Amino acid sequence: ITAILTDTHGRKHNYLRISLSEKCNLRCTYCMPHDGIPLSPRANLMSAEEIEAFAKVFVENGVDKIRLTGGEPLVRKDFSDILKRLAKLPVKLSITTNALLTHRFIADFKKYGLKDINVSLDSLNAEKFNFITRRDQYKKAFTNIEQLIKEGFNVKINAVLMKNFNEDEIVEFIKLTRERDINVRFIEFMPFDGNAWNKDKLVSQAEIINRVTDHFGVEALQPLPNEKNFTARNFRIQGFTGSFGIISSVTNPFCDSCNRIRLTADGKLKNCLFSNEETNLLKPFREGEKLEHLIDAALNKKKAVRAGMTDFDQLTNPDLHSNNRSMIAIGG
Ligand code: GTP
Ligand code: 5AD
Ligand code: SF4
Repeated sequence: ITAILTDTHGRKHNYLRISLSEKCNLRCTYCMPHDGIPLSPRANLMSAEEIEAFAKVFVENGVDKIRLTGGEPLVRKDFSDILKRLAKLPVKLSITTNALLTHRFIADFKKYGLKDINVSLDSLNAEKFNFITRRDQYKKAFTNIEQLIKEGFNVKINAVLMKNFNEDEIVEFIKLTRERDINVRFIEFMPFDGNAWNKDKLVSQAEIINRVTDHFGVEALQPLPNEKNFTARNFRIQGFTGSFGIISSVTNPFCDSCNRIRLTADGKLKNCLFSNEETNLLKPFREGEKLEHLIDAALNKKKAVRAGMTDFDQLTNPDLHSNNRSMIAIGG
């Protein structure tokens, strides 16, 4: 067999992120443009059977971890059916969700072995949460996060930081890890189509570290070893139960250990989060074509760093990234 999931830079892709839906029950300003996105016609979305069939092909070729994303993956009416199908495969299952609906799926998560739950939560303040998500759901989100922790899931909290908006909450977020065995991750705000990114809104890894050491002291900050194929560089505050991390895609990309590929809800393969080249797998699949050579070709076009935007200056040039899709359609 040929190693179709190995790219020309020698990176093996064993981590597939599948977006289940282009829809979401929140409206985060940085994730979708104000007037929404054109939704794909239903017939163009992958069905549960198709998701299973695609996942099989990837698993046969070396994928051993699948993360379900969106939009919000739990708004899919057939979510439980999809989970059941994927649970038959030899993969580690995980999900990234806003937690608004997790209470309905606790039993399914347990039954089908999904333990790793990453929750997007950008503020610990109800008004700010409303402002960023355009929905009054802070309490529900936080209550559900506490439930997930109590039920024993591995919970990571993802907070996208934005200047003059929530950077003043870094310390509060880290304090969540004092008694809770969770990992809180601060994410550098990334540019996508329609999200009004500009570099003045960025809170960089360096700034985050400064805020942390200003508050907790330099000696209290303990770096943890990097995970394999990490996105986050992790730390612990001395004496705290949990940990925190920084996902620095903008100022310190981690592309050399990238093991990720993405399937959009409409069945297109993306070889990089920042790449606007998409390979339609769904259409040829429906026409009876084999997918391996398409996947191989797509992977071989993958660039070493951020779809070719190696330098910070390139990433900040809107002409280079503005024809990528919005995050809500990519799945992060
Ligand atoms: P783990 O599987 O727990 O390591 O989670 P993850 O960090 O891979 O996924 P998650 O969905 O929680 O995403 C957290 C943040 O990391 C989001 O802002 C994602 O956009 C970003 N992220 C995830 N995968 C990649 C990637 O391949 N490249 C880049 N640049 N960012 C990524
Ligand atoms: N920059 C960084 N992270 C983002 N996410 C969504 N949009 C952006 C962006 N522009 C995060 C979500 C979610 C994860 C999958 O991606 O908050 O936690
Ligand atoms: Fe991988 Fe692209 Fe993310 Fe870099 S930017 S880690 S190459 S998906």
